[in-house]
Amino acid sequence: MTLEAAEAIKRHGVGVKCATITPNKDRIKEYNLKKEWPSPNGTLRAALDGTIFRSPILASNILPTVKSWKKPIHIGRHAYGDQYRNQEIRVEGPGKAELVFSPADGSAPARRLVHEFKGPGIVQGIHNTDDSIRKFAKACFTYALDQKVDLWFSDKDTISKTYDSRFTQIFREEYGNWEQAFEQAHITYFFTLIDDAVARVVRSEGGFLWACKNYDGDVMSDMLGSAYGSLAMMSSVLVSPSGQFEYEAAHGTVQKHYYKHLKGEKTSSNPMALIFAWTGALRKRGEFDKSPDVVAFAHNLEASALGTVESGIMTGDLLKVAVPSPNNRTVYTEEFVDAIADNLRSKLG
Ligand SMILES: NC(=O)c1ccc[n+]([C@@H]2O[C@H](COP(=O)([O-])OP(=O)(O)OC[C@H]3O[C@@H](n4cnc5c(N)ncnc54)[C@H](O)[C@@H]3O)[C@@H](O)[C@H]2O)c1
Repeated sequence: MTLEAAEAIKRHGVGVKCATITPNKDRIKEYNLKKEWPSPNGTLRAALDGTIFRSPILASNILPTVKSWKKPIHIGRHAYGDQYRNQEIRVEGPGKAELVFSPADGSAPARRLVHEFKGPGIVQGIHNTDDSIRKFAKACFTYALDQKVDLWFSDKDTISKTYDSRFTQIFREEYGNWEQAFEQAHITYFFTLIDDAVARVVRSEGGFLWACKNYDGDVMSDMLGSAYGSLAMMSSVLVSPSGQFEYEAAHGTVQKHYYKHLKGEKTSSNPMALIFAWTGALRKRGEFDKSPDVVAFAHNLEASALGTVESGIMTGDLLKVAVPSPNNRTVYTEEFVDAIADNLRSKLG
């Protein structure tokens, strides 16, 4: 079913995904599954060859922890290779660790001494491919242009003069194909070292896409998610290198709330990220179809949802992080959706 969904996204150019379960042992029993199915997100990402971009939904009464952030910081994580597809050895005692590459054409292997161990230690081998890095770069340039935001890319090529330098080089090469479009859109491409990027990000106003290597993106997306307030205010879009878009909320199925719901209890689950997944998809489809009414509807729905939160009507997760106000009150999910619908009706007249 997930693969069929991926095919449908390729056909239609746009898709929306609800949160899915990546089964563990408990869920296999609970849902009587035949096996531990892999993550549907992973399957979709592989099928579309895509990159995931996350961005916060900003409301004026939910202030980010970092005071200077005025605009969203979008983050793109290269989700292939490096430490996530590594080989590791626990070294028990003295010996030699070597890196060997044997070309398929039978020519002489390339060999590097990693370390001459005098005692116990650890060693790790990692890799990446030009193809994957280039597809990541393409997806980042596509997304930055789509959102009309600057693109930052960071790595550590001063230390890693072959491995990280290859990332820097591929991004620079790829920029050559986008330079004109970037200039026309008044946006820029900027490369800097990861440590400098981190320092600049916390002093910035936001309003750019930060393209990160796999590990950096893993760490930094959680840092941004929590610094912007709530996981339920993080939207997520998977962009394929050929320009297909799959929108979703960054959060999961909110398991505890689901079990409460099954017991007939009311919950205060936050649907903002899911609403923004739908508006993102509608806006994109409207742009593809040149249907300004569809684009306007997406805009109005977003404004109505934000207006509801900004008027003080919010779900429990937001009340904890909102600027205190006598207007603030927690509502159940259904009441929250009704308030958004009322707002939308008044906007549409
Ligand atoms: N994109 C996806 O499809 C996706 C992402 C993450 C987790 N999952 C799946 O979701 C299930 C639950 O995973 P989890 O508990 O680690 O992640 P989760 O995102 O569902 O919940 C994490 C925490 O954030 C809170 N939270 C998240 N979204 C919220 C919302 N909309 N409103 C209010 N509170 C919210 C929850 O109460 C919980 O404490 C698992 O089966 C996991 O595999 C799916």
